[in-house]
Amino acid sequence: MIPGKRVALVTGAGRRIGRAIALNLAQAGCDVAVHYRKSCEDAEATARDVRLCGRNADVFRWDFAAEPDAARLVAQVCDKLGRLDILVNNASWFIPEGEPTPPDFSLDIWQQMLAVNVIAPASLCFAAARVMRDRGSGRIVNLCDACWDRPWANYPAYCASKAALASLTRSLALSLAPDIQVNGVSPGIIEFPESFTPEVRERLIRKVPARRSGRVEEIAEAVRFLIEGPAYLTGQIVAVDGGRGLR
Ligand SMILES: NC(=O)c1ccc[n+]([C@@H]2O[C@H](COP(=O)([O-])OP(=O)(O)OC[C@H]3O[C@@H](n4cnc5c(N)ncnc54)[C@H](OP(=O)(O)O)[C@@H]3O)[C@@H](O)[C@H]2O)c1
Repeated sequence: MIPGKRVALVTGAGRRIGRAIALNLAQAGCDVAVHYRKSCEDAEATARDVRLCGRNADVFRWDFAAEPDAARLVAQVCDKLGRLDILVNNASWFIPEGEPTPPDFSLDIWQQMLAVNVIAPASLCFAAARVMRDRGSGRIVNLCDACWDRPWANYPAYCASKAALASLTRSLALSLAPDIQVNGVSPGIIEFPESFTPEVRERLIRKVPARRSGRVEEIAEAVRFLIEGPAYLTGQIVAVDGGRGLR
């Protein structure tokens, strides 16, 4: 779907997986709206690297925890970059929720988790869909997590938020068909949270049939496939997990 000028909004695109997605889409010929919350310098660096690919880029700051209804972000992107064809909901909040199992209930954690991982992506999907429908086409990719259907004991709010995002993805694939394709990518172990010790990392990797963690570029390639690939592919959550989900 990429021929001609296309504009993609990638949330959380300053670092890690979001940055790789932004650069991959730039290489595919897209102008990129680089969203960030705290990583201003990193976002500027991503935008610079997009421009080095010969594409246009701008940075956009938004805190989804403070303001989960982010529809105005779509309007800002359209104002600055002229249009919006592709939305990648990559930004996400993840924290250790507590040991031992079960973690204590924290209203703050649940509210923030749902705000950042569900409500903000939903509001962006709805706002982007209005713009895309006017043009008659569009692609949305939501970054889920392998835990969306295989939850872990110690991260109930995070797992529930990703299950909700996967459900939203499938629901929107129905309601936005046939003009807009909505899919998800469900990464396995790609970049560990910085707080994970080497022992924990090694224990987790041993469970992966591929015997290694995935690379951020591999997630970006999967996102690009869902954006450039067949329009008949919609409502799917594609696991990119080195086979971990088979065990
Ligand atoms: N890394 C993995 O191995 C892995 C595994 C499974 C699923 N995933 C999913 O893949 C996606 C990318 O993973 P990642 O590890 O690269 O993500 P990450 O580093 O945990 O987060 C990506 C970005 O989300 C932004 N963000 C966090 N809270 C925000 C808020 N309140 N408002 C706006 N933005 C906020 C941050 O932007 P700033 O830095 O600008 O604040 C952050 O850089 C996520 O959806 C994640 O759940 C990743």
